[in-house]
Amino acid sequence: MKYYESHEEAYRKVKKNKLSFWGESAENSESFENFYMKEYLISALDKIKPISNARVLEIGCGTGPISCFFAQQGHNVDGFDVSQTAIEIARKNAKERSLDIHYSIDDICSISKTMSDIYDIIIDGHCMHCITYDSDRHAALTNVLRLLKEGGYFIVETMSIEDPSLWPHDGRIDEKGIVWHEVKEDYPYDKVKFEDKYWICTRRIMNPCDLENELKQIGFLIEHIEIIKDEKLNMADFRAICSKPMQ
Ligand SMILES: C[S@@+](CC[C@H](N)C(=O)[O-])C[C@H]1O[C@@H](n2cnc3c(N)ncnc32)[C@H](O)[C@@H]1O
Repeated sequence: MKYYESHEEAYRKVKKNKLSFWGESAENSESFENFYMKEYLISALDKIKPISNARVLEIGCGTGPISCFFAQQGHNVDGFDVSQTAIEIARKNAKERSLDIHYSIDDICSISKTMSDIYDIIIDGHCMHCITYDSDRHAALTNVLRLLKEGGYFIVETMSIEDPSLWPHDGRIDEKGIVWHEVKEDYPYDKVKFEDKYWICTRRIMNPCDLENELKQIGFLIEHIEIIKDEKLNMADFRAICSKPMQ
């Protein structure tokens, strides 16, 4: 199983604890309706002023707080995730809110949708930083560009760091910004052996300039960039609004 499918374990805990999304915990004030990206999405929508009933896709939608937010704005929303349990909870969350969202299990690196130019807006709410290797990231972003309509927008929020050597969390980060956690030999997801131990990669935390260049190299036009720094943690949220050029 691919390394990024390991989120399934976290969503089984979300389900067991009867929570509605991963950000909900006793330590913070986040909830399904009051999720981490809400203010940013309100300001992004104000900038791009989408048509009413726009076709929206959320990649790595998890249990769907962002997808529900877009559906509540009157848009026509699809969401997918590699985690089966996340999609099960997402369907329940949408049903409880009487929202008609089309959810599916899929992988942005090898997505089953073969059509192009479908969506007015595609959202990355912390999915891309789970995709660590250059080849997987290239495949994922190329698929996003293909699925966007010409002139459509890709709205991104992803974790970023200026100096990876100051990584403040668990695990260790390498010079490319890939975060590694030690796992047992029988760990079921793609693991790598080095220093005589087994490791799984969990995040790709890149420098803001590298993130911007990566988007440009795939072919996106950068419309807006914002870096929200957390000085205490030496981390930042990289926020971008990109568009697909008109031919
Ligand atoms: C930090 S969670 C964010 C979930 C959701 N966007 C939200 O705001 O609650 C990242 C999500 O990306 C999903 N994911 C990771 N790699 C993926 C891939 N290659 N294709 C689709 N989903 C993926 C994970 O399963 C996880 O649900």
